[in-house]
Amino acid sequence: MRKRMIAGNWKMNKTYSEGVVLAQGLADELKDGTGDVDVVVCPPAVDLKGVSEVIEQTSAPFALGAQNVYWEESGAYTGETAPSMLEAVGATHCIIGHSERRDYFGETDEDVNKKAKALMAHGIVPISCCGESLEVREAGKHVEFVVDQIKKDTEGLEITDPSKYVIAYEPIWAIGTGKTATADDAQEVCGAIRATLVEVFGEEIASGIRVLYGGSAKPENIAGFLEKEDVDGALVGGASLKADSFAAMVKSA
Ligand code: G3P
Repeated sequence: MRKRMIAGNWKMNKTYSEGVVLAQGLADELKDGTGDVDVVVCPPAVDLKGVSEVIEQTSAPFALGAQNVYWEESGAYTGETAPSMLEAVGATHCIIGHSERRDYFGETDEDVNKKAKALMAHGIVPISCCGESLEVREAGKHVEFVVDQIKKDTEGLEITDPSKYVIAYEPIWAIGTGKTATADDAQEVCGAIRATLVEVFGEEIASGIRVLYGGSAKPENIAGFLEKEDVDGALVGGASLKADSFAAMVKSA
Protein backbone atom coordinates (compact mmCIF):
# COMPACT_ATOMS: atom_id res chain seq x y z
CA MET A 1 0.00 0.00 0.00
CA ARG A 2 1.32 3.43 -0.92
CA LYS A 3 2.00 5.86 1.95
CA ARG A 4 -0.01 9.06 1.42
CA MET A 5 1.79 12.36 0.86
CA ILE A 6 0.65 15.94 1.40
CA ALA A 7 3.11 18.44 -0.07
CA GLY A 8 2.90 22.21 0.14
CA ASN A 9 4.14 24.36 -2.73
CA TRP A 10 4.58 27.85 -1.33
CA LYS A 11 5.43 29.17 -4.81
CA MET A 12 6.89 32.73 -4.78
CA ASN A 13 5.53 33.59 -1.34
CA LYS A 14 7.02 34.24 2.14
CA THR A 15 10.23 36.13 2.77
CA TYR A 16 12.93 34.37 4.80
CA SER A 17 11.49 35.46 8.18
CA GLU A 18 7.90 34.85 7.07
CA GLY A 19 8.93 31.36 5.97
CA VAL A 20 10.47 30.65 9.35
CA VAL A 21 7.26 31.78 11.07
CA LEU A 22 5.09 29.61 8.80
CA ALA A 23 7.32 26.58 9.35
CA GLN A 24 7.26 27.15 13.12
CA GLY A 25 3.48 27.40 13.02
CA LEU A 26 3.23 24.17 11.04
CA ALA A 27 5.64 22.42 13.42
CA ASP A 28 3.35 23.44 16.27
CA GLU A 29 0.20 22.33 14.45
CA LEU A 30 1.80 18.93 13.75
CA LYS A 31 3.56 18.48 17.08
CA ASP A 32 1.59 15.25 17.65
CA GLY A 33 2.94 13.83 14.42
CA THR A 34 1.45 13.16 10.99
CA GLY A 35 0.37 9.53 11.40
CA ASP A 36 1.13 7.48 8.34
CA VAL A 37 1.37 10.48 6.01
CA ASP A 38 4.52 11.89 4.42
CA VAL A 39 4.49 15.69 4.64
CA VAL A 40 6.74 17.93 2.56
CA VAL A 41 6.99 21.74 2.51
CA CYS A 42 8.50 23.46 -0.53
CA PRO A 43 9.47 27.11 0.19
CA PRO A 44 11.20 29.47 -2.22
CA ALA A 45 14.93 28.71 -2.64
CA VAL A 46 16.08 31.61 -0.45
CA ASP A 47 13.94 30.28 2.41
CA LEU A 48 15.22 26.70 2.32
CA LYS A 49 17.93 27.11 4.95
CA GLY A 50 15.64 28.90 7.36
CA VAL A 51 12.92 26.26 7.08
CA SER A 52 15.53 23.50 7.32
CA GLU A 53 16.72 24.97 10.62
CA VAL A 54 13.16 25.08 11.96
CA ILE A 55 12.69 21.41 11.06
CA GLU A 56 15.94 20.52 12.84
CA GLN A 57 15.34 22.68 15.92
CA THR A 58 11.73 21.58 16.45
CA SER A 59 12.06 17.99 15.18
CA ALA A 60 9.10 18.87 12.98
CA PRO A 61 7.47 15.86 11.27
CA PHE A 62 7.80 17.20 7.76
CA ALA A 63 10.46 17.10 5.07
CA LEU A 64 12.00 19.96 3.10
CA GLY A 65 11.46 20.29 -0.63
CA ALA A 66 12.61 22.71 -3.30
CA GLN A 67 10.50 24.11 -6.14
CA ASN A 68 13.05 23.73 -8.91
CA VAL A 69 16.55 22.55 -9.78
CA TYR A 70 18.99 22.59 -12.69
CA TRP A 71 20.43 19.31 -13.96
CA GLU A 72 24.13 20.27 -14.11
CA GLU A 73 26.44 19.73 -11.11
CA SER A 74 27.91 23.25 -11.25
CA GLY A 75 29.03 25.93 -13.70
CA ALA A 76 28.00 29.02 -15.64
CA TYR A 77 24.25 28.78 -15.15
CA THR A 78 23.38 32.15 -13.63
CA GLY A 79 20.46 32.04 -11.25
CA GLU A 80 20.20 28.28 -11.17
CA THR A 81 20.58 25.82 -8.26
CA ALA A 82 22.34 22.45 -8.48
CA PRO A 83 21.11 19.24 -6.81
CA SER A 84 24.14 19.21 -4.50
CA MET A 85 23.15 22.67 -3.25
CA LEU A 86 19.67 21.43 -2.36
CA GLU A 87 21.20 18.43 -0.64
CA ALA A 88 23.49 20.73 1.37
CA VAL A 89 20.55 22.64 2.88
CA GLY A 90 18.65 19.48 3.75
CA ALA A 91 16.18 19.27 0.89
CA THR A 92 15.02 15.69 0.37
CA HIS A 93 12.39 16.44 -2.28
CA CYS A 94 12.07 18.78 -5.28
CA ILE A 95 9.12 19.81 -7.44
CA ILE A 96 9.92 19.68 -11.17
CA GLY A 97 7.89 20.44 -14.28
CA HIS A 98 5.30 22.62 -12.58
CA SER A 99 2.94 24.08 -15.17
CA GLU A 100 3.97 27.57 -14.14
CA ARG A 101 7.60 26.75 -15.03
CA ARG A 102 6.49 25.15 -18.28
CA ASP A 103 4.29 28.14 -19.20
CA TYR A 104 6.36 31.09 -17.96
CA PHE A 105 9.90 29.72 -18.28
CA GLY A 106 9.60 27.31 -21.20
CA GLU A 107 10.39 24.15 -19.27
CA THR A 108 9.95 21.07 -21.49
CA ASP A 109 9.39 17.39 -20.82
CA GLU A 110 13.03 16.83 -21.84
CA ASP A 111 14.11 19.33 -19.16
CA VAL A 112 11.90 17.58 -16.60
CA ASN A 113 13.43 14.23 -17.48
CA LYS A 114 16.98 15.59 -17.05
CA LYS A 115 16.05 17.18 -13.72
CA ALA A 116 14.55 13.93 -12.43
CA LYS A 117 17.70 11.98 -13.31
CA ALA A 118 19.95 14.61 -11.68
CA LEU A 119 17.86 14.69 -8.48
CA MET A 120 17.72 10.91 -8.18
CA ALA A 121 21.50 10.72 -8.65
CA HIS A 122 21.66 12.80 -5.45
CA GLY A 123 19.03 10.81 -3.60
CA ILE A 124 16.49 13.64 -3.82
CA VAL A 125 12.86 12.66 -4.50
CA PRO A 126 11.40 14.34 -7.61
CA ILE A 127 7.78 15.49 -7.39
CA SER A 128 7.21 15.56 -11.13
CA CYS A 129 4.22 17.61 -12.27
CA CYS A 130 1.97 17.02 -15.26
CA GLY A 131 -1.44 18.27 -16.33
CA GLU A 132 -3.47 19.66 -19.19
CA SER A 133 -4.80 23.09 -20.13
CA LEU A 134 -8.50 23.88 -20.28
CA GLU A 135 -8.32 23.83 -24.10
CA VAL A 136 -6.95 20.26 -24.10
CA ARG A 137 -9.53 19.17 -21.53
CA GLU A 138 -12.42 20.70 -23.46
CA ALA A 139 -11.16 18.91 -26.58
CA GLY A 140 -11.34 15.62 -24.65
CA LYS A 141 -7.61 15.04 -25.19
CA HIS A 142 -6.54 15.33 -21.54
CA VAL A 143 -5.77 11.65 -20.92
CA GLU A 144 -3.61 11.19 -24.01
CA PHE A 145 -1.88 14.51 -23.32
CA VAL A 146 -0.89 13.55 -19.76
CA VAL A 147 0.10 10.01 -20.78
CA ASP A 148 2.45 11.52 -23.37
CA GLN A 149 3.93 13.78 -20.68
CA ILE A 150 4.50 10.84 -18.34
CA LYS A 151 6.22 8.77 -21.03
CA LYS A 152 8.60 11.64 -21.87
CA ASP A 153 9.19 12.67 -18.23
CA THR A 154 10.10 9.10 -17.19
CA GLU A 155 12.13 8.12 -20.26
CA GLY A 156 15.25 6.20 -19.17
CA LEU A 157 14.59 6.62 -15.44
CA GLU A 158 15.88 3.74 -13.30
CA ILE A 159 13.59 3.33 -10.29
CA THR A 160 14.32 0.60 -7.75
CA ASP A 161 12.52 2.19 -4.80
CA PRO A 162 9.14 3.54 -5.97
CA SER A 163 8.78 5.70 -2.85
CA LYS A 164 11.63 7.83 -4.25
CA TYR A 165 9.70 9.11 -7.26
CA VAL A 166 6.41 11.03 -7.00
CA ILE A 167 4.07 12.35 -9.68
CA ALA A 168 1.64 15.26 -9.22
CA TYR A 169 -1.29 15.58 -11.60
CA GLU A 170 -2.29 19.23 -11.69
CA PRO A 171 -4.92 20.21 -14.27
CA ILE A 172 -3.78 23.71 -15.19
CA TRP A 173 -7.33 25.03 -15.28
CA ALA A 174 -7.75 24.13 -11.58
CA ILE A 175 -4.54 25.77 -10.32
CA GLY A 176 -5.13 28.88 -8.26
CA THR A 177 -8.59 29.30 -9.76
CA GLY A 178 -10.74 27.87 -7.03
CA LYS A 179 -12.18 25.70 -9.82
CA THR A 180 -11.33 22.23 -8.58
CA ALA A 181 -11.41 19.13 -10.69
CA THR A 182 -13.88 16.58 -9.37
CA ALA A 183 -12.54 13.51 -7.60
CA ASP A 184 -13.69 11.48 -10.61
CA ASP A 185 -11.77 13.80 -12.96
CA ALA A 186 -8.68 13.21 -10.83
CA GLN A 187 -9.18 9.43 -10.73
CA GLU A 188 -9.64 9.23 -14.51
CA VAL A 189 -6.24 10.80 -15.18
CA CYS A 190 -4.42 9.36 -12.16
CA GLY A 191 -5.65 5.93 -13.21
CA ALA A 192 -4.27 6.51 -16.70
CA ILE A 193 -0.99 7.66 -15.16
CA ARG A 194 -0.85 4.45 -13.09
CA ALA A 195 -1.47 2.32 -16.19
CA THR A 196 1.29 4.17 -18.02
CA LEU A 197 3.67 3.60 -15.12
CA VAL A 198 2.90 -0.15 -15.31
CA GLU A 199 3.76 -0.04 -19.02
CA VAL A 200 7.02 1.78 -18.35
CA PHE A 201 8.25 0.23 -15.08
CA GLY A 202 6.19 -2.93 -14.56
CA GLU A 203 3.48 -3.63 -12.00
CA GLU A 204 5.63 -3.84 -8.86
CA ILE A 205 7.35 -0.47 -9.23
CA ALA A 206 4.27 1.25 -10.68
CA SER A 207 2.10 0.13 -7.77
CA GLY A 208 4.47 1.86 -5.33
CA ILE A 209 4.78 5.26 -7.03
CA ARG A 210 2.63 7.95 -5.37
CA VAL A 211 0.41 10.04 -7.64
CA LEU A 212 -0.79 13.28 -6.05
CA TYR A 213 -3.57 15.63 -7.12
CA GLY A 214 -3.02 19.38 -7.24
CA GLY A 215 -5.29 22.26 -8.19
CA SER A 216 -7.31 24.19 -5.60
CA ALA A 217 -7.04 21.34 -3.10
CA LYS A 218 -8.26 22.48 0.30
CA PRO A 219 -9.34 21.07 3.68
CA GLU A 220 -12.94 21.12 2.43
CA ASN A 221 -12.33 18.90 -0.61
CA ILE A 222 -9.27 16.77 0.14
CA ALA A 223 -11.22 13.80 1.52
CA GLY A 224 -13.05 13.23 -1.76
CA PHE A 225 -9.79 13.00 -3.71
CA LEU A 226 -8.20 10.63 -1.19
CA GLU A 227 -11.09 8.20 -1.53
CA LYS A 228 -9.99 7.49 -5.08
CA GLU A 229 -7.91 4.37 -5.72
CA ASP A 230 -5.13 6.06 -7.68
CA VAL A 231 -4.93 9.36 -5.78
CA ASP A 232 -2.29 9.13 -3.05
CA GLY A 233 -2.27 12.67 -1.72
CA ALA A 234 -2.12 16.30 -2.77
CA LEU A 235 0.27 18.98 -3.93
CA VAL A 236 -1.16 22.11 -2.32
CA GLY A 237 -0.57 25.72 -3.27
CA GLY A 238 -2.64 28.45 -1.64
CA ALA A 239 -3.86 26.33 1.25
CA SER A 240 -0.25 25.55 2.25
CA LEU A 241 0.46 29.19 3.07
CA LYS A 242 -1.50 28.99 6.33
CA ALA A 243 -0.27 26.52 8.94
CA ASP A 244 -3.74 25.65 10.20
CA SER A 245 -5.28 24.92 6.79
CA PHE A 246 -2.31 22.88 5.62
CA ALA A 247 -2.21 20.96 8.91
CA ALA A 248 -5.95 20.29 8.59
CA MET A 249 -5.30 18.65 5.20
CA VAL A 250 -2.52 16.53 6.67
CA LYS A 251 -4.75 15.41 9.55
CA SER A 252 -7.56 14.44 7.19
CA ALA A 253 -5.24 12.43 4.94
O1 G3P B 1 1.76 22.98 -7.04
C1 G3P B 1 0.50 23.13 -6.44
C2 G3P B 1 -0.26 24.23 -7.08
O2 G3P B 1 -0.06 24.31 -8.45
C3 G3P B 1 -1.74 24.19 -6.75
O3 G3P B 1 -2.07 25.49 -6.41
O4 G3P B 1 -3.28 27.21 -5.14
O5 G3P B 1 -4.53 25.68 -6.73
O6 G3P B 1 -3.61 24.78 -4.56
P1 G3P B 1 -3.45 25.82 -5.66
